[in-house]
Amino acid sequence: MTKYVIHGGKPLSGEIEISGAKNAAVAIIPAALLVDGVCRIENIPQISDVTSILNILQDLGADVRTVNRTTVDVDCSHIRNAKVPEELARKIRASYYLIGALLGRFGCAEVPPPGGCDFGGRPIDQHIKGFVAMGAGVEVGGGYIHARAKNGRMQGTQVYLDIVSVGATMNIMLAAVLADGMTVIENAAKEPHVVDLANFLNSMGADIMGAGTDVIKIRGVQRLSGGVYSIIPDQIEAGTYMAAVAAAGGEVLIRNVIPKHLECITAKLLEMGVEVEEQDDAVLVRRSGPLTRTNVKTLPYPGFPTDMQPQIAAILCIAEGTSVLTEGVWDNRYRYVDEFRRMGAQIQVDGKIAVIEGVQRLTGARIQACDLRAGAAMVIAGLAACGTTEIGCVHHIERGYEDIVRKLSGVGADIRVVVTPGEEKQAQVG
Ligand code: EPZ
Repeated sequence: MTKYVIHGGKPLSGEIEISGAKNAAVAIIPAALLVDGVCRIENIPQISDVTSILNILQDLGADVRTVNRTTVDVDCSHIRNAKVPEELARKIRASYYLIGALLGRFGCAEVPPPGGCDFGGRPIDQHIKGFVAMGAGVEVGGGYIHARAKNGRMQGTQVYLDIVSVGATMNIMLAAVLADGMTVIENAAKEPHVVDLANFLNSMGADIMGAGTDVIKIRGVQRLSGGVYSIIPDQIEAGTYMAAVAAAGGEVLIRNVIPKHLECITAKLLEMGVEVEEQDDAVLVRRSGPLTRTNVKTLPYPGFPTDMQPQIAAILCIAEGTSVLTEGVWDNRYRYVDEFRRMGAQIQVDGKIAVIEGVQRLTGARIQACDLRAGAAMVIAGLAACGTTEIGCVHHIERGYEDIVRKLSGVGADIRVVVTPGEEKQAQVG
């Protein structure tokens, strides 16, 4: 069993370098399936979700070569297989991008339903609605989603999304770049990773307009050819470290960021009394005084990101006064609250609303990460708490944060990884 052990209460000081964006990488890597030639993808984060998606491509027959720590060459020219193995696909949510990419490339796809964090229902009906509108037949059976373009090639059309969905927007984009004619996605998601995927595809020869607005137009082209592309910095990783500084106090320069992508997070931290200074590709975050209450509602971009909801909750727990947090994207993203309560947090949850009564101090406790961002929020709570916090199930955190322990230790946090094989045996026996 691997756990993180944190002795809290130490202010942070120094610099943290942000890695490439997870949610861009896990879409751009499958997008290489559409490209005839070698895609050199730079600024790839070293996280287990990326390893999983690269393993799937290799299993399909892609040639994947590591150039250096953050760069891979992916060549999918010789792939002839459109069936994704179940055990690999179930590890990650983003395996659904293989449906759009394989449909675009071969006109057919066999992909198991995706895995990923559990926030209540996570339907993909809007993805399927898009594929069907583009002329594919889609059936679910035998543990697989079977999709096949009726004429062997996807057909451009107009798709109106009933819900603003990041995954459906990007998946339909993948299915459309090599389709016959023009696809128009209305009510599209505007997240930075949607724009990054469009920029990647355009740099390989696609014709996509409007990414970053709510109408995206994709004119199908005959062929994409290889090239070099660098993934954007991770908005949520940066926001997580901004919240860590807010929690622990101190001053940290967070480097390799796009400050524009962080505005929704910066605005809330400023309201809470945290100082944030934007630079060209960095933000300086400083907190010396007390944190003050605020209300937060999560919304699709450019609203406050749902993937920062548990981390902002961690700091609201120690802010003066009562804050109201409203989850506007997922049905059930408060599963971490019981763990925070073990640390002395005062939180009441009613459906999508959490009311947080700030306390003077959290106290260290033994807690379990229940998903990726909740796990990161527990690290933040541990940094702020007095005493020792032990966090189990950290594999959730390592799905999306490269070297979180090293990055935080580098700015003075007292955090270490502890592997206890004895406990692992006990846990299995128990
Ligand atoms: C992406 O998930 C991210 N995952 C999530 O990040 C993130 O929380 C989410 O977008 C919202 O920003 C990846 O990029 C791999 P959605 P996705 O489709 O695409 C409903 C993290 O921590 N919906 O935008 O699966 C859905 O239930 C992860 O990094 C439908 O009803 O999210 C939700 O309420 C966790 N039908 C809302 O839309 C659909 O077909 C938004 O979901 C699709 C979605």
